[in-house]
Amino acid sequence: MKIIKVKDYQEMSQKAAELIIAQVKKNPKLVLGLATGSTPEGLYKNLIEDHRSNGTTYKQVTTCNLDEYIGLPKEDHNSYYAFMKGHLFDHIDVLAENTNLPSGEKEDRSAECAAYEALIHEAGGIDVQVLGIGGNGHIGFNEPGTPFDSLTHIIELDASTREANARFFNSLEEVPTQAITMGIQTIMSAKEIVLLASGTAKVEAISKLLSGEITEAFPASCLHQHPNVTIIVDEAALNENK
Ligand code: GLP
Repeated sequence: MKIIKVKDYQEMSQKAAELIIAQVKKNPKLVLGLATGSTPEGLYKNLIEDHRSNGTTYKQVTTCNLDEYIGLPKEDHNSYYAFMKGHLFDHIDVLAENTNLPSGEKEDRSAECAAYEALIHEAGGIDVQVLGIGGNGHIGFNEPGTPFDSLTHIIELDASTREANARFFNSLEEVPTQAITMGIQTIMSAKEIVLLASGTAKVEAISKLLSGEITEAFPASCLHQHPNVTIIVDEAALNENK
């Protein structure tokens, strides 16, 4: 596990963007695993900026997002589909047909889970997966207790996760109770993983992660078993702010 210590959110976002841009340049057909949440917003801004100024192209890139809420229509501004369109896809030259998120709207949920796994497999597997981290150590929407051998599945969101995400909704009641998410094994199958963490809200999660203990009670701890993980973390998340 490689740890890149940065000053703040801005530097975290820049470093992450440099890493992704270098990979896209090296392999124009990159399969990029993407995340939502406040953490990667700055990374996406930097990718858009670079696309506009330097012309980095995503025409052959395929993207696969980690997760989606169950029950929110795609058009809802809180869907992760809408988030990705608004924060990235509409502003770079990635082809809409090459952007993928699991669907939270399908009636046959287990078929959708299997189909998403098959889609990733057919794309050749994820080359680089971007991750944030939940306060309780979740990655994607894999809440504490999720088996490390899990594939894409439906999960009941923890109360703490719904509370953390309530800031985007009008009320806590509006936050969906379930999500569809890549499993831990799906994430661990990525060739390279980049986890971003910024801010004091992540101090406890980062300190648990860096303690090195590997347990399903703390989902992100699986990353210690992956051969190519980079953590880009700022001083606040490391509790090093003076
Ligand atoms: C969300 C997402 C995760 C994200 C995490 C942290 O619920 N499903 O992919 O990493 O919570 O979010 P944030 O970056 O807003 O702190």
